[in-house]
Amino acid sequence: RPRVVVLISGSGSNLQALLEAQEHDELGGDVVAVISNKADAYGLVRAREAGVDAVVLPHDEYENREHYDGALIKVIERHEPDLIVLAGFMRILSPIFVQRFFGRLINIHPSLLPAWPGLDTHRKVLEAGEKEHGASVHFVTEELDGGPVAIQAVANVLEGDDEASLKERVHTREHLIYPIAVHWFLEGRLKLDGEVAKLDGHDLPVGGLRL
Ligand code: GAR
Repeated sequence: RPRVVVLISGSGSNLQALLEAQEHDELGGDVVAVISNKADAYGLVRAREAGVDAVVLPHDEYENREHYDGALIKVIERHEPDLIVLAGFMRILSPIFVQRFFGRLINIHPSLLPAWPGLDTHRKVLEAGEKEHGASVHFVTEELDGGPVAIQAVANVLEGDDEASLKERVHTREHLIYPIAVHWFLEGRLKLDGEVAKLDGHDLPVGGLRL
C-alpha cells in the first residue's frame, strides 16, 4: 500500500481528517509517520492515538535551515513515503528539500490561492473586505505557496465574522479537501507534470478543481 508521511507543527486537525479517511478506507494508503518540529504539537497525540509513529525533530537544535532540512530528509526517507503531506507545518523549506521530494510534496494553505499567500490569511481577507475565502491544496515548489493547485474549496465570508469564526469555517473546508487530494494522488490520478498539476491526465486550471 502507498505510504504517507505527514509533517505538522500544531493542532493537527488536518492530520486527523487524513487519519479518519484512512480508518474508513478512503485514503488509498497509510499514514506511516507524523513528524513535528515542535515537541508540544497536539497532532503528535493524535498520531499516537491512531497507532502511527510520531517523531519530534526540534528545529532549534540545528544551526541553520539547511542542516535542519538535511536531518528532516533523513527521517522522512527512513519511512520510504510515496507522498509527503504538509499539514500545518509552519516552516519554510529549503530548495534542497523541495527538489528532493518534488512532485510528491503537497501542502494545504488557508486561502484561495493564488490570492493571499503567506501568513494571517483570515485577518487579511477580513481587512480587505473580501466576500470569498477558502482553502487550497497545492504541490510545493520553490515559490512560497506558489505551486500548482490541485483542489480548493470556498468558504464565504459572513456578516459579523471575526478571525476565529472565519478560521473555523475554512478549517471545515480543509478537512473536506485534503483527504480527497491525498486519495487522488495515491491512486495515481493527481500528478505534477513540470509546473502543471494534472488530474486524470488533464491540466487543472489555476485554482485547481473548485468545490
Ligand atoms: C491550517 O489551517 C493550514 O491551512 C495552515 O495551518 C493550519 C494547521 O491546522 N497552514 C498554513 O498556514 C501553511 N502556511 P491543523 O494543525 O489543525 O491542521
